[in-house]
Amino acid sequence: MSTKCVLDAGCGTGWLFDELSPSEAWQCDLAPPPSRRAGIRSSREDITSMSYPSGTFDVVVSSLVLMWVSELSAALREFHRVAKPGGRLVVALVHPYFAHAGHVVSDGFVINRDLSQEQELSDYFISGVVGPLTYYHRRPETYYNEALLAGWRLTHFLDWFVDMEHYERFAADRRTATRRTGWVPTFTFFVGEKDLSDVDTSGSGDAG
Ligand SMILES: C[S@@+](CC[C@H](N)C(=O)[O-])C[C@H]1O[C@@H](n2cnc3c(N)ncnc32)[C@H](O)[C@@H]1O
Repeated sequence: MSTKCVLDAGCGTGWLFDELSPSEAWQCDLAPPPSRRAGIRSSREDITSMSYPSGTFDVVVSSLVLMWVSELSAALREFHRVAKPGGRLVVALVHPYFAHAGHVVSDGFVINRDLSQEQELSDYFISGVVGPLTYYHRRPETYYNEALLAGWRLTHFLDWFVDMEHYERFAADRRTATRRTGWVPTFTFFVGEKDLSDVDTSGSGDAG
């Protein structure tokens, strides 16, 4: 079954729709989104206040974006508003207990940031280009609790670990500033569902 209408919120390079071909592909970002192929509807949007009408999307994807957003609750409420009743939210984060938390050593991962504290890293440029932005180090439950408060019913959670055997065989020659490890989760994902009875009437949504 193909998914009908998907929003990639904070799309960056727009890679998602190389992997996924929904019948309606929408993408937005603070920076002008790239045109990777015909038919993708792109706009510049701040995800904390989007111009889409309420109840537009079957799926809202937010991949590696929410760590950059100060108004986390506003973004999660906006995702909920623009999702259809019964629609889904898929969130990916660099795992808060991996991102800038420490460094990889030969036999493990040494933590050198206080994981109990929420912290901000200012004047950060993504890939040296988009910025300056602030990176918000939040504990995982902050994301879950804000999503619940925004009205999402959380249905799935996944902590993703690098399979180092696979990595050494197929990807070790890729250049990355971050050393990989299989000892701590690199990414974390969660999925939320908007109740069928949830019909939002609030919010900006003035564009078609
Ligand atoms: C690390 S990139 C991730 C891009 C892509 N989703 C991915 O998975 O590769 C984070 C993106 O979020 C965007 N972003 C940050 N804050 C945003 C906001 N308030 N509204 C819209 N986009 C935002 C940035 O411009 C950047 O393109």
